[in-house]
Amino acid sequence: MTKPDTHQTIRPRRNRKSSAIRTLCSETRLSCESLIYPVFVHESAQDEEINSMPGCKRWSPAGLLRELSEAHSLGIGAVVLFPAIDEQLKSRSATESYNEDGLIPKTIMAIKNEIPDLAVITDVALDPYNSDGHDGLVDENGRILNDETVEVLCKQAICHARSGADIVAPSDMMDGRVGAIREALDSDGSTETSILSYTAKYASSYYGPFRGALGSAPKSGDKKTYQMDPANAREALREAALDINEGADMIMVKPAGPYLDVLALVASHVDVPVAAYQVSGEYLMIESAAAAGWINREEVIRESLTGIHRAGANAVLTYYAKEVAGWLHVNKD
Ligand code: PBG
Repeated sequence: MTKPDTHQTIRPRRNRKSSAIRTLCSETRLSCESLIYPVFVHESAQDEEINSMPGCKRWSPAGLLRELSEAHSLGIGAVVLFPAIDEQLKSRSATESYNEDGLIPKTIMAIKNEIPDLAVITDVALDPYNSDGHDGLVDENGRILNDETVEVLCKQAICHARSGADIVAPSDMMDGRVGAIREALDSDGSTETSILSYTAKYASSYYGPFRGALGSAPKSGDKKTYQMDPANAREALREAALDINEGADMIMVKPAGPYLDVLALVASHVDVPVAAYQVSGEYLMIESAAAAGWINREEVIRESLTGIHRAGANAVLTYYAKEVAGWLHVNKD
């Protein structure tokens, strides 16, 4: 029997005919367990609105513990800490970055004390502590010193691990830092501390609002001699191979949304978990368009995070983590 020309056997729309069936068929699901919550903390009794990132706060130590307890009870399993450091504590040698009585060590200990199951990730880079605002040490000619920086990063990582960090996340893009940090941690007895490497971190203008939050913008020059060129994708595989070879337990692509091709490429080539960071500029573009009434905020947030997961991220760092966990929680009840 010949089929009439109009007969359609295959109808993809059948898999979309109701919410129940769409959900059965969906390849990617948002879950709070895969969201990592980046937060800002400062040495002050007040929680402060961040002008460059409306809706985000620089938390006081006490405010941060309240916020993280709420996030954890909504199902968030991991947090990344970023410190806003007093200008007087910044220096050209960034020694505050490994002060064992500093803001980050104290914050890690307080979190581990109150919410021991929450995984604590720390950022390893010098920019919040460096009077130059760069991730590495800067010489008198404005050059970023690679190997000298790595030595300081090792001290910083040891300091975080001793304070109880579960994962240290080098975000500085110096060459060889993952291997050096692994060795430093191991010889200090921190063999259990994981390394989440910012492997493909691009020299991106999407970080602008974050630098406003920490007052950490470079005083001169830019970060293009260490962060990756936005034009490159294959180079991400080179960085990934190096980091994994040097002992990275997990790797990251950053930013996320404008680099989904890089994320998919990296995820298909490696055998370690891959995280992606929906950065401050991505957050702000959604916030500002939503505030203008131009987009549906919740739907766009969900779609942006689904897209990042679909491209291959096991975990996503997002300023929306707690809010999305709240939405997912409501849907469960
Ligand atoms: C610091 C660091 C930056 C971000 C995370 N860690 C800024 C930078 O590299 O300039 C950006 C995060 C964001 O924009 O949300 N090494």
